[in-house]
Amino acid sequence: MSSYLDVAVEIAREAGAILLAEFDRPVNISYKGEVDIVTQADRRSEQLIVSRLRSHFPKHAIVAEEGSGTDSESPFRWHVDPLDGTTNFAHGYPCFAVSIGLEEAGELLAGVVYQPVSGELYTAVKGEGAYLNHKKIQTSPIPKLATSLLATGFPAVKRVQNPNIHYYWDFTLRSHGVRRDGSAALDLAAVACGRFDGFWEFGLHSWDTAAGVLLVREAGGMVTQFNGQPYQLGDRELLASNGHVHAEMREVAEGIAERASSRPALS
Ligand code: IPD
Ligand code: CA
Ligand code: CA
Repeated sequence: MSSYLDVAVEIAREAGAILLAEFDRPVNISYKGEVDIVTQADRRSEQLIVSRLRSHFPKHAIVAEEGSGTDSESPFRWHVDPLDGTTNFAHGYPCFAVSIGLEEAGELLAGVVYQPVSGELYTAVKGEGAYLNHKKIQTSPIPKLATSLLATGFPAVKRVQNPNIHYYWDFTLRSHGVRRDGSAALDLAAVACGRFDGFWEFGLHSWDTAAGVLLVREAGGMVTQFNGQPYQLGDRELLASNGHVHAEMREVAEGIAERASSRPALS
């Protein structure tokens, strides 16, 4: 399995170099939705990653955000976010990453999240721990929600229907604060290395989460849905934490959901 990771790391570094080169040039934005943007950097990075994965593993399936992946009968499936944090990238905010994760029939096997501006490389292989720049990492020992630092994110699509603003409000009042940094892959990596104690979001895709979820689990943390069921790629909601604040976060989330069910629906 580490040979899969080695290939993914090499490709993520190459894609990261493309992102850095594009970051220095004027950005050319196209719109996929009202505020859902895509840049030349997303496309160039994806093209590189998909072509490299195809030449190394011609039989594997690839799911890539900008649509250039291919399906196959293989149980091996790569989940590729060529640029996680496109909005940050397009505004010159240097918080973005390449995320590549490998799944075999529903099991996450290997993942890499690479932040090219800082040079931080997060890696994990199933059963072998999680690493930041080759140093083993662990989730934080913070025991209580009241002393935790959390993170969340908001999608660029179906913004009005997304319930997250209510969760943001409650969790902000019950913790040291909630960061919203615009890259789910880096948020998960930050939980894995103990910078954040918890993270949640609604509506993430497998390319946002495949690598980051393995990082958190391999670093000793937990990743579930709000009802406590283990998170599977593509689930509507994701709750990741150091494990210690997990039950409290679930309780808060359940309370918010109950209150929301008695509120009139947003149009
Ligand atoms: C987005 C980022 C953001 C999250 C959004 C994602 P993109 O990915 O991960 O943090 O809140 O839900 O769509 O579009 O920058 O790859
Ligand atoms: Ca993404
Ligand atoms: Ca993306």
